[in-house]
Amino acid sequence: MHVIIVKNYDEVSEKAFEVMKEIVTSKPNAVLGLATGSSPIGLYQNMIKDHKDNGTSYAAVQSFNLDEYVALPRDHEQSYWTFMHENLFKGIDIKEENVHVPYGSTKEDCEAYEKAMENVSVDVQVLGIGANGHIGFNEPGTSFDEETHIVTLTEKTRQDNARFFENDMNKVPTHAITMGIATIMKAKKILMVATGENKADAVKAMIEGKPSIDCPASVLQNHSDVVVILDEAAASKL
Ligand code: GLP
Repeated sequence: MHVIIVKNYDEVSEKAFEVMKEIVTSKPNAVLGLATGSSPIGLYQNMIKDHKDNGTSYAAVQSFNLDEYVALPRDHEQSYWTFMHENLFKGIDIKEENVHVPYGSTKEDCEAYEKAMENVSVDVQVLGIGANGHIGFNEPGTSFDEETHIVTLTEKTRQDNARFFENDMNKVPTHAITMGIATIMKAKKILMVATGENKADAVKAMIEGKPSIDCPASVLQNHSDVVVILDEAAASKL
């Protein structure tokens, strides 16, 4: 794991953008694995700015998102489909037909997403980390061998995300569809961004703990090309 520690969120976003820019400029038809959450928003803002200022094109890029809530319509304001369009896709020239976000609640929906990814190889997978060490929506206890599957969200994850649902736990979805850990590990490169003190324990377990399903992100120790970009707060327990 290549761990980079910088001062704050803006510097994390800048560094992550440098990694992303290198990939999309050297390979215009790159396949990007993308993530939601507050962690990658700064990276996405840098991508939009660079597209506008320097013309970096995403016209040949394909994207595959990590996860999506079950039972929210795609056009719901808190769906990850909406999040990606609002925070990235509408600001760059990616083609809608090249955008993939998992959707649905059945085994067939999960298989369909794996099938869509069958003939591509993700050049870089962007990841955030949950405060309990989850990646995508792979909660602690998830087998490292899982591919795209339906998960029951933990109480902790639902509470962490309640702020997006008017802090009303009744409105927070209970299930999600997510790429599995085996799906994530197929990416050629992993770009993990984490900021803030509430991630410090998860970051420590990811980097210094023994790889274990108790901290799903610790699986990344088994990947040969991982860049972890942290701010000082997220790195404070290392
Ligand atoms: C959600 C997402 C994850 C994300 C995590 C952390 O649960 N499914 O992909 O990494 O939250 O979110 P944030 O970056 O907002 O802290």
